[in-house]
Amino acid sequence: MEEATTNIFHLGVVIFFFYASLLSVGTSAAGVASDTLSNGRNITDGDTLVSAGGSFTLGFFSPGLPSRRYLGIWFSASTDAVCWVANRDSPLNDTTGVLVIDGTGGLLLLDGSGQAAWSSNRTGLFSSAAAQLLESGNLVVRDQSGGGIIWQSFDHPSNTLIAGMRLGRNPRTGAEWSLTSWRAPDDPATGDCRRVMDTKGLPDCVSWRGTAKKYRTGPWNGLWFSGVPEMSSYSSMFTNQVVVKPDEIAYVFDDAPGAPFSRLVLSEVGVIQRLVWDPSSKVWNTFAQAPRDVCDDYAKCGAFGLCNVNTASTLFCTCIVGFSPVSPSQWSMREAIGGCRRNSPLECSNNGSTTDGFMAVRGVKLPDTDNATVDMSATLEQCRTRCSANCSCVAYAAADIRGGGGGSGCVMWTGEIVDVRYVDKGQDLYVRLANSELALLR
Ligand SMILES: *[C@@H]1O[C@H](CO)[C@@H](O)[C@H](O)[C@H]1NC(C)=O
Ligand SMILES: *[C@@H]1O[C@H](CO)[C@@H](O)[C@H](O)[C@H]1NC(C)=O
Ligand SMILES: *[C@@H]1O[C@H](CO)[C@@H](O)[C@H](O)[C@H]1NC(C)=O
Ligand SMILES: *[C@@H]1O[C@H](CO)[C@@H](O)[C@H](O)[C@H]1NC(C)=O
Repeated sequence: MEEATTNIFHLGVVIFFFYASLLSVGTSAAGVASDTLSNGRNITDGDTLVSAGGSFTLGFFSPGLPSRRYLGIWFSASTDAVCWVANRDSPLNDTTGVLVIDGTGGLLLLDGSGQAAWSSNRTGLFSSAAAQLLESGNLVVRDQSGGGIIWQSFDHPSNTLIAGMRLGRNPRTGAEWSLTSWRAPDDPATGDCRRVMDTKGLPDCVSWRGTAKKYRTGPWNGLWFSGVPEMSSYSSMFTNQVVVKPDEIAYVFDDAPGAPFSRLVLSEVGVIQRLVWDPSSKVWNTFAQAPRDVCDDYAKCGAFGLCNVNTASTLFCTCIVGFSPVSPSQWSMREAIGGCRRNSPLECSNNGSTTDGFMAVRGVKLPDTDNATVDMSATLEQCRTRCSANCSCVAYAAADIRGGGGGSGCVMWTGEIVDVRYVDKGQDLYVRLANSELALLR
């Protein structure tokens, strides 16, 4: 017994030193780890770049099999918290890898035979380019003569968003900043799940698994994403922002001054987690996670359905008032995805005359705005008038709640509305109903 324990202890020590040598800050070669890789220099396996304040380290690592080597960036205080991986789909199979910066300002990860396992795909003539690991965790390649940024790791996220990174897209170029899951916790290869910002209607962060939409935060309402009101309660830790500019629509967060590190990680199964580092106990605490509950499953209750986590007896789905299940037999079998249809037809002619009215569904995450029409400059009253005058408009809501009151701006939905649920501090959605249905409510 004793011998077995001793052996296990020894094995533990060996493993510890093995990992310590794989991950330790490689100050050996140069004496002091630098944050910069300049032209003509290189980083070999065991060497690292360390950001000026020491927060981030770039180097080689193996999350799983020691024979698979990756180049990545991790939190120095938590070496297995990898926030960026270069060669995620092309691991090196030994420790002969080397990162070089070439005469065109490109970063190249070479294997022992000089083959590129990964490159930053930059061409140009920047003979004096250098790569620097910034204190933000961003690896930036700059042209030393002009100072312009040639390439940066923040533009190529892996499965993690850290402070200052963007999740979004550039409407001008179509370029996208999105997260892609790892294949497994010990395998950074490109996995099935993606987290992107949908910019077609209002900005909305959407998780996909393959080609299936799994979860969305709900549209940005100026203060938070409509389905995640609790976002606003973490302002002592980090601040959230959605930037809307001609060349950028993006979600960005920043750690509050003096607050510990936080990161948003997309897991292998598509769960997004907000983790905050506790420096005293050296653990990452989970602050938020999505999807949170059954009502977060995308379009769970189908078109014109409404999800309520407190109605377990109907398996959480009901139809919006004025609508009934398309298939009552399926609903009775708790299959709600087929959705709901209108009880009474609308009465509207396209010269603008209508007897229809609107019913407020209060306190909800707004429906998917993919095909919705958005006008940030309209008032809520104008929105109602416009929706009323357009027979294909089935619902409207305020786009921005910052001003208080009923909010401002206008989102109008045509066709169907999907993925509506009750949330705390939810918004008001005005659904078009026939006058006869409204009469029943009076
Ligand atoms: C990396 O740098 C070392 C020392 O300067 C040099 O001997 C080696 O050839 C370089 N390797 C590559 C691939 O550039
Ligand atoms: C670089 O370009 C090649 C070929 O176009 C592509 O296969 C590879 O994924 C690109 N690498 C990166 C890091 O974008
Ligand atoms: C938006 O329209 C497209 C094309 O008609 C459709 O496939 C998609 O399901 C619609 N999205 C929503 C959220 O209604
Ligand atoms: C009604 O709204 C739809 C969607 O926004 C739009 O395409 C259509 O032109 C509008 N119709 C009228 C008569 O304004």
